[in-house]
Amino acid sequence: MIKYIGSKRVLAGVLGDLLARSGARTALDLFTGTTRVAQEFKRRGASVIAVDTARYSEVFARCYVETDGAAVDAGDLGEALRYLGQLPGEAGYFTETFCVRSRYFQPFNGERVDAIRTALDRDFAGSALWPILLTSLIDAADRVDSTTGVQMAYVKTWAPRSFNPLQLRPPSLLAGPGRAVRGDARVVVKELPPVDLAYLDPPYNQHRYFTNYHIWETLVAWDAPPHYGIACKRLDSRDEATKSVFNQKAAMAAALRQVVTDVKASVVVLSYNNESWVALDELVDMCSVHGQVAVLPFDSKRYVGAQIGIYNRSGQKVGRVSHLRNLEYLVVAGPRRLVARMTAPYAASALPRPSGALA
Ligand SMILES: C[S@@+](CC[C@H](N)C(=O)[O-])C[C@H]1O[C@@H](n2cnc3c(N)ncnc32)[C@H](O)[C@@H]1O
Repeated sequence: MIKYIGSKRVLAGVLGDLLARSGARTALDLFTGTTRVAQEFKRRGASVIAVDTARYSEVFARCYVETDGAAVDAGDLGEALRYLGQLPGEAGYFTETFCVRSRYFQPFNGERVDAIRTALDRDFAGSALWPILLTSLIDAADRVDSTTGVQMAYVKTWAPRSFNPLQLRPPSLLAGPGRAVRGDARVVVKELPPVDLAYLDPPYNQHRYFTNYHIWETLVAWDAPPHYGIACKRLDSRDEATKSVFNQKAAMAAALRQVVTDVKASVVVLSYNNESWVALDELVDMCSVHGQVAVLPFDSKRYVGAQIGIYNRSGQKVGRVSHLRNLEYLVVAGPRRLVARMTAPYAASALPRPSGALA
């Protein structure tokens, strides 16, 4: 899975446990990103709907959530990966934009990305393997990038991993049903069927996913867009249509309140961290429409960029990271008994809430 700000790598197991303790058979991951949490829910036996606005998230969701892994012939997949993996590199838009004009990848790898992505549409368009192969390509490119974790800058001297040759690996598919939906959570949530458990992990500050991961957007869209600046961001990054209300300080809280109110689920689990715009109390108030609310705090490492340092656009280290740990919270809301059963193992650490504490 790709490096991703806000990815719930550490909390995925806890979220899986919460799902299991709730007895949920159907689940919704409304801001699915890497699909890490949706995958965990599917692994625990739930039928999952994964939603996000990002094109690459939809591809990941089609691969890991929508594809029934039991129906995929491992031999066919292996053969397709071998065929794509041995294609000779051929410089195109990707190489020119992301390896020559900017330096996110070494040209010898960029040329292979160009060749493989072109072959994907030529030889696998409409095939059930297409999202699986494209997921494999994005993961492979992510492993050999030369960034600090986001695609707003690349490091000045090539990162050691960028010297490795791009290697396609088979994604770890999961058996069972699921659904991928690309769309705005505010709209989609009104149209989806009710689920047993809904998980919400929205952006909580100004950092836009569309620009932070613009290369993955382009690798999926394969539309060779005009770009601007040293980072070679897509020109349509400036369009309102590519901006999320969840990155707008004045509008974010109201939008989240609306989504929390509209979501049709027996129990709602919401991720939150102490670097966000919304106050925890406000979040608890929003969630109380679903019944009892419990808040579970977790100490967690900050995103990968913070681990590496702060760099300017030329890749020079310019600042010190203020702190490397932060507090992540899971807010659990639903019928009192259900919430109590789900959160029982964490009762000692749960924060007491005014609306009838469960801690
Ligand atoms: C904090 S990340 C989710 C991370 C995810 N839980 C994971 O573990 O990978 C927030 C996600 O919300 C998505 N997003 C932003 N605005 C959205 C909107 N209006 N509707 C749906 N998804 C949105 C972003 O593309 C991003 O993937």
